[in-house]
Amino acid sequence: MDWKIETIVAGLDGSDQSLSAARLAATVARQFGARLILATVVRPPEGWWGIGGEPPAPEAFAKAVVEARKEILDRAEAALDLEGITYETVEEAGDPAAQLADLCRREDADLLVVGRRGAGLVERLLVGSVADRVTHIAPCPVLTVP
Ligand SMILES: Nc1ncnc2c1ncn2[C@@H]1O[C@H](COP(=O)(O)OP(=O)(O)OP(=O)(O)O)[C@@H](O)[C@H]1O
Ligand SMILES: [Mg+2]
Repeated sequence: MDWKIETIVAGLDGSDQSLSAARLAATVARQFGARLILATVVRPPEGWWGIGGEPPAPEAFAKAVVEARKEILDRAEAALDLEGITYETVEEAGDPAAQLADLCRREDADLLVVGRRGAGLVERLLVGSVADRVTHIAPCPVLTVP
């Protein structure tokens, strides 16, 4: 069996852990000559979408929320060594785990890289809910970074 690593998705939520995960993703991307997608998901305010409804497009959010998310990707771009790596940044709206999994499916990703923990404050959990969830629903292998 052979596993080609051609496309890697890294999930960024503004936390140091997610930045460490993206740093590892960039390192792997460089080693394998893979394309890197730096992705962040904007979670709509509770109650924004009706039951069964589609999440709104990012444009529909309060500008401040979207700007805050752009900042996460801008900061990551500045902090990471992306020299010589083909990469792009992507913003999605909705449930973070579901959107990351969908993105991996659409882009035919070979690897999803996330931090073990993120920006949340649920300290009682060993693994973050997004990191946990993507291992169940992602179409590709998931690498969780401590
Ligand atoms: N909104 C998001 N967009 C993109 N990636 C995300 C997002 N939220 C989390 N991630 C990814 O998942 C990793 C783990 O974050 P997760 O949200 O699971 O943990 P947490 O914030 O500590 O806990 P919780 O959110 O369950 O309170 C992050 O380091 C990041 O890589
Ligand atoms: Mg979180």
